[in-house]
Formats: sequence, structure tokens, C-alpha cells
Amino acid sequence: MLMDYKNLTDIFKIPVIGLGTWGIGGFMETDSSNDEKAVQAIKDAIELGYSHIDTAELYGAGHTEELIGNAIKDFDRTKLIITSKVFKTNLKYDDVIASCKKSLEKLQTNFIDIYLIHAPNPEIPIEGTMKAMDYLVEQGLIKFIGASNFSVEQMQEAQRYSKNKIVANQIPYNLATRNINLDRNTNNVGSCINMESEIIPYCQENDIIIMAYRPIERGFLLKPNSLLDGLSRKYGKTKAQIAINWLVSKKNIIAIPKSTSINHLKENLDAIGWSLSCEDIKLLDEVEFECPND
Ligand SMILES: NC(=O)c1ccc[n+]([C@@H]2O[C@H](COP(=O)([O-])OP(=O)(O)OC[C@H]3O[C@@H](n4cnc5c(N)ncnc54)[C@H](OP(=O)(O)O)[C@@H]3O)[C@@H](O)[C@H]2O)c1
Repeated sequence: MLMDYKNLTDIFKIPVIGLGTWGIGGFMETDSSNDEKAVQAIKDAIELGYSHIDTAELYGAGHTEELIGNAIKDFDRTKLIITSKVFKTNLKYDDVIASCKKSLEKLQTNFIDIYLIHAPNPEIPIEGTMKAMDYLVEQGLIKFIGASNFSVEQMQEAQRYSKNKIVANQIPYNLATRNINLDRNTNNVGSCINMESEIIPYCQENDIIIMAYRPIERGFLLKPNSLLDGLSRKYGKTKAQIAINWLVSKKNIIAIPKSTSINHLKENLDAIGWSLSCEDIKLLDEVEFECPND
């Protein structure tokens, strides 16, 4: 499988498919019951060709980062891209730095490639957060700074306080959620409205990578659907592959599906290396999919 890349900066490329890790080692709380399997799944993913791993201090209450740390320690760290996130309750200057150091320890690495603000927090002024992010870059503890669940105004405000460019915004963009304009506030991380009309065009115009999270909407897009079923037959690809291919066909968008199943890991990588026709992309662009409410 040959990976495709998009430019995170002029000289740093990011694969169009990365590995999501929400739920590996627990959700909001630690679950250690599947550690061995989880570490093996992350190693399998790397061996299959995943080099970008997305995580957060929130996931599994820190345990997901620990499992990733165990999985990556035998690989060449310089060939991997690790994205992690500081949670929205930890956005004060000192808290950001402490969170990053804890994540580094858990990940058993001395740098995080892309460090995201998991979600905006109107109760903590963003100036201090961005100064801390700049400090982390200066110290070499992170390479790049990014945002998640940020609106255009929130990105612009954050950027005003930072010497370093915000290189990415991670948002819940997929075929089902692309036009949601409601505040879902899922998992208390935030919400994104106006993705297609505002956030994505802004990122595309400003060379900011859009990391599309929940690319198959946690399996929701695999339910019976006449258009996706038809395209699946036409291309000989699964619905997950159609949904991911559609995402990464767009300028600056990469996808980060989560899986611990070797078959799904392979299937999701095979979402690239072929193209939907312009007509079919347009069909998918225009159809209104049902969207889950949570
Ligand atoms: N920034 C944020 O606020 C935020 C919020 C949510 C998620 N994220 C990130 O985005 C990543 C992806 O989102 P997500 O994990 O919520 O949802 P997702 O990737 O859309 O879906 C994951 C679910 O789909 C299954 N799956 C994966 N590939 C499949 C395939 N080819 N066929 C059938 N089922 C498949 C997985 O099960 P198996 O493991 O059994 O394959 C898992 O249950 C997260 O893991 C996380 O890293 C970020």
C-alpha cells in the first residue's frame, strides 16, 4: 500500500490516513482489560503503513497514551507522527505545560509532533494557552501547534497570540455530519458548526490541515444507504472506503479512522490508491445523509 500525503507545512508532510485511538484503553476512564491486544493492534497498524497516530490526554484517562508509548517504543520514532491534545480544562499556561510533559512521559517520547488544543474553553483566556504552546515549541517538546473543534473566529483569535502557525484543526467532518449546524457538544469536547461554509474554506485558504475525525461516524455510515451501497458495488469498495476516499479527495483534508481490527485497519488503508469520479464526488457532496444526534 502506497500512502498519500498532504502538506502540513512547506517541508512537513502528513499521511492522508492516520490512526484514531479513542476507546483504545478506555474512553473517559481507564480500561486495562485489553492492553495486550491494544498494543498489538497499534503495532500491527504501524507495520501495515500507518505512521500518524492521533491521541489525547483525555483518552482512557491517560491510558491510551501509555499503550501507544508501549507500542511505538520499538519503532523508529522519527518515522512516526504523533498528535496529542491538551484537554479544555487544562488550558491555563502552567497546566498546558504540565499536561504536555505528562503526555510525553506516557508516550515514552521526548517530543509530540502536533499538539492540539482539544476544544476551546471560553472560561480560560486563550492568550496564556498560546504562550504555553509557543514555549513548548521553543523547548522542542512539540513540533507544531494545532486546534480541534475550533471555529474560524476561535482559530483567528488563537493565532493572534501565537508566534507559531496553527497548522491543523481537527473537526467532526464526514458524509453524515458535514452539514450539521447544531451544537452536539459530544463528550463535552466542543462542537463544530458551519464546517463546509466557514471552517473548511478558511483552512484551505490558509494552508491549515483539516483532520477529519469520526470519518465513518463510528460505523453509522455503514448502515444501509442506497447511494453508498450503489457506489460500493460500482467501485468494488466498502462503504467505509467510499466515505474515507470522499474525505481525502478534498483539499487539505486527512482522515483518522480508529480501528483495532486488523481487517478494518487494512480496509481503511485501501480507502486510497484509487479515486471516485468527479461526478460521484459531486453526488456525495450534494446528498443529505441522516445524521446521528449525539
Ligand atoms: N478532536 C476530537 O474532539 C475528537 C473526537 C472524536 C474522535 N477523535 C479522533 O478521531 C478518531 C476517529 O473517530 P472515532 O474513533 O470516534 O470514530 P470512527 O473512526 O468514525 O469509527 C470507529 C469505529 O468504527 C469501527 N471501524 C473502523 N473501521 C471500520 C471498517 N472499515 N468497517 C467497519 N467498522 C470499522 C471501529 O471498530 P474496530 O476497532 O472494531 O474496527 C470503531 O468502532 C478517534 O479515534 C480519535 O482519535 C477526535
